[in-house]
Amino acid sequence: MDIANWMFLVILFVNGVFGVETDAVKTIELMEGDPVPLDTCVTKLQKDDEIEWTYGSYVIATIKANNALLYDTDDARFKDKLQINDQTGDLTIRNTRTTHSGLYEVKITNITHTTHRRFSVTVLDAIPTKVPVTAGASAILQHNIADIQIYDVIEWKFEDGKTPIAQINKQNSKNPSYDKTDERFRDRLQLDQTGFLTITNTRITDSGLYKLQVQGTNIATKHRKFRVTVDEPGLGTGYIVLICVCVIALILVVIGICYRRSRHQQGKDKGNEVQDPLKGEQ
Ligand SMILES: *[C@@H]1O[C@H](CO)[C@@H](O)[C@H](O)[C@H]1NC(C)=O
Repeated sequence: MDIANWMFLVILFVNGVFGVETDAVKTIELMEGDPVPLDTCVTKLQKDDEIEWTYGSYVIATIKANNALLYDTDDARFKDKLQINDQTGDLTIRNTRTTHSGLYEVKITNITHTTHRRFSVTVLDAIPTKVPVTAGASAILQHNIADIQIYDVIEWKFEDGKTPIAQINKQNSKNPSYDKTDERFRDRLQLDQTGFLTITNTRITDSGLYKLQVQGTNIATKHRKFRVTVDEPGLGTGYIVLICVCVIALILVVIGICYRRSRHQQGKDKGNEVQDPLKGEQ
C-alpha cells in the first residue's frame, strides 16, 4: 500500500470518528388529527447511544443509557401526545393540532458518530373555518397563526385558482398586491400586515373556499382554509314569524266574519219558518 492510499484511509477513518452528518430537511405535511411519525433510521439502539429530539428550542424527548424521557413546551402542547420507541428512538406525535407544525430535529449520538435529522412538519387544518356573511357586508378572514411577522410570504388563493388573489411578499415589498387579471374581486380585497383578508361589498359569487399559505425561511409552511358563504339579504326569521302570525290572524278574522254572517242568515231563515205556520193559523 503506497503512502497516498494510506493517507486516504487515515482521512476516511478520522472523518468517520469525528463525523457529523446532517441530512436534508424532510418535509411532512398532514391533516390535523393524524399522527406524525418521526424516524431516526436506527434499527436498534446500543447501550451507549443517545437520542435527543428537539422542537424549535425545546428538548421534547431524550434517550440516555436506555432511559427514555419525555418533556413538553411551556404551553404544554405535547401533553399526552408524544410516544417514543425505546428500541429505535423513533418519535410519534399523536392527535396533532396545527400548533404542532414546525421544525423537529433529532440528534443521534453513538460511539463514533453524531447524526442530525431534521423534519419540517406542517399540520393542515382539517375543517375550513366557516365565514357566513350577508351580501353587501364585508367578510373578514382571520387566521390563528402566531408570529405572522416571522413569515416572508403570505398568499391567499380562491377555490382552485393557481394565482393568489392577494399576497404579501416581504422580499419584494411590504405592501399587499392583488391579482389584477381577476375581475371578480376588483377593488374589493384588503390584505393587511397581519395576513387577515377582508372582502368588501360581498356578492353571492364570492362564496367558496379561500386558502391561506404562509412561508418563511427555517419555519414550516402553514396552511389555513376558510369556507365563505354569502347569503341574499333576506328577511330575518323574526320577521317571517311575525308575518305568519299576521296571516293566521287575518284568516281567523275572515273565518269569524263568514261564520257570523251565515249564523245571521240562518237566524233570519228560521225566523221566517217560525212565522210562516203562525201566518197559516191566522
Ligand atoms: C454510528 O452511527 C453511524 C451513522 O448513523 C453508523 O453508520 C454507525 O454504524 C454507527 N456505529 C455504531 C457502532 O453503531
